[in-house]
Amino acid sequence: MHACGHDAHVTMLLGAAKILKHHEKDIQGTVVLVFQPAEEASRGAKKIVESGVLENVTAIFGLHILPNLLIGEVVSRSGPIMAGSGYFDAKIIGKGGHAGIPQQTIDPIVAASNTVISLQHIVSREADPLDSQVVTITKFQGSNAYNIIPDYVTIGGTIRALTKQIFYQLRQRVEEVIIGQAAVHRCNATVEFLGGVEPFYLPTINNGDLHQHFVNVAVNMLGLNRVYSAMTPVMGAEDFSFYQEVIPGYFFMLGMQNASNKRIESLHSPYLEINEDGLPYGAALHASLAFSYLLKHQQNVPGVETKYHDEL
Ligand SMILES: *[C@@H]1O[C@H](CO)[C@@H](O)[C@H](O)[C@H]1NC(C)=O
Ligand SMILES: *[C@@H]1O[C@H](CO)[C@@H](O)[C@H](O)[C@H]1NC(C)=O
Ligand SMILES: *[C@@H]1O[C@H](CO)[C@@H](O)[C@H](O)[C@H]1NC(C)=O
Repeated sequence: MHACGHDAHVTMLLGAAKILKHHEKDIQGTVVLVFQPAEEASRGAKKIVESGVLENVTAIFGLHILPNLLIGEVVSRSGPIMAGSGYFDAKIIGKGGHAGIPQQTIDPIVAASNTVISLQHIVSREADPLDSQVVTITKFQGSNAYNIIPDYVTIGGTIRALTKQIFYQLRQRVEEVIIGQAAVHRCNATVEFLGGVEPFYLPTINNGDLHQHFVNVAVNMLGLNRVYSAMTPVMGAEDFSFYQEVIPGYFFMLGMQNASNKRIESLHSPYLEINEDGLPYGAALHASLAFSYLLKHQQNVPGVETKYHDEL
């Protein structure tokens, strides 16, 4: 199962809807609630953008649960917070035959094995050690028999980077290394990236002004010592990035762990559990971020008084 907490995310936004509805007459503008359709694999955010519902929207906020952060705590940062990712399949084509007569074959297993090792040198030898990048091979499929060298091997995996520019470099080098290493071993290779040239998910990059807004709202609500504003980026990917490509956006993580309970398993673990005690924090933060953003950015419309307090 996906097990990334999206049921909790939807629940918190419903909570925010309830709070906002309750304060509807005080809201200085329009709040659009965007739920999280098909975040993983189908890039639901891309379809939301294409549907035009963000047409008149000037800023967007999103949150994600973080199991190992304490309940009532939040963490985020300005700038890149999550990686852009790409997914590829490659076919390394040799010539199959009997395992006992290797001289009559062109062995794609050995070619693919060397390819996987060489791919690991891209990050270790070509990347700036202070710039995070990932090349991981997750698939390797050859023959099903003990005594047959297959005609071809398929490998696949993912690349990740914190900027689009580095992503393109990684992508190009992965292609070159696969095709080059296949050639060294007399094989041919094809490489295909899911979704074409662009990253499958873009890097999630937080707007600096919205970061300030978030810190103000969160510190008011939770207290200074429960707001961590210099998070180390993670190399997971998130489709919220598609919103940030078209309007300023801000993404943050919300704690779920109750210090006195057993440790919650990590995101994507089949044993992940939602701590429902954490949900009101998310609902309140969503509502307050939107409410106070609109209050701060309202046009000076005659007759609209700015007497409202800055938080809910
Ligand atoms: C955006 O605003 C324009 C002008 O007020 C309006 O015609 C349009 O329907 C709005 N779009 C959405 C998606 O709300
Ligand atoms: C690789 O491609 C070349 C050119 O099409 C072809 O001549 C050769 O036989 C191919 N090698 C393998 C192992 O498929
Ligand atoms: C943590 O769990 C305990 C026991 O289940 C509960 O009494 C307490 O309210 C929880 N704390 C928070 C912050 O939710």
